Amino acid sequence: MSETTPQIDIVPDAATAADYAAIQLIAALHGNERPTLGLATGATMTPLYARLVAAYGKRGVSFRDATSFNLDEYVGVRPDSRGSFHAYMRAHLFDHVDLPPGRAHIPNGMAADIAAEAARYEANIKAAGGIDLQLLGIGANGHIGFNEPGSAFSSRTREIRLDDATRRANAAHFPHAAVPERAITMGIATILEARWIVLLATGAEKADAVACMMEGPLTTDCPASALRLHRNVQVICDAAAAGKLTRAMAGERKRAR
Ligand code: GLP
Repeated sequence: MSETTPQIDIVPDAATAADYAAIQLIAALHGNERPTLGLATGATMTPLYARLVAAYGKRGVSFRDATSFNLDEYVGVRPDSRGSFHAYMRAHLFDHVDLPPGRAHIPNGMAADIAAEAARYEANIKAAGGIDLQLLGIGANGHIGFNEPGSAFSSRTREIRLDDATRRANAAHFPHAAVPERAITMGIATILEARWIVLLATGAEKADAVACMMEGPLTTDCPASALRLHRNVQVICDAAAAGKLTRAMAGERKRAR
């Protein structure tokens, strides 16, 4: 696989970044008869999902024919507990749109055998025909999904131990309990099989991660750098997240509101 430069759109602020990402998601939903979406969680995604819910309310989009696969879930956290990604997805998207519940997939972090659950998840993605559009955020340490630094570019869906920094970043979601130590996540190779990848990054705390993804060495120390091995990646970031880029990007388009 040869290296490429992802398309990057740098917009003034987080609200505009969410607008752009929503346009891509809606295009994927309109452009496929049976669209398969790869979905992400995290604070960055919340304004994007709000836009999708608003578009659905105005009959601008439907999820009726869609299938979705979330990137990850904590291990040992019940789907109905507040900090789970199941709860996040219900609160921000699933409870508000017409995506058929049976076609909204999230890894089961309560499975007795996580390795078997990971294999089942991979098989389900394959059976659905692969992912048309994979949505990604990025961790401040360069993680995608929960592929922490050190994750092999050939990794598949599996159990992973979370970095202390990642656990601290997510502590607010677990006010009454310790942040889980482990998660189940799609692997980097799983993510790279998506036909189209849209990564959304906003805020100055993501500037180092965006710089390592776009300009750093291709290394497992920065899992997001693996995205440069994919031919169809679009990075959407606000000015703050783009603040540490030093090169003029080949695919860069600066956009005004
Ligand atoms: C989380 C998720 C990632 C997400 C990232 C950033 O822990 N596993 O999928 O992209 O970390 O989250 P946030 O948008 O809250 O900064």
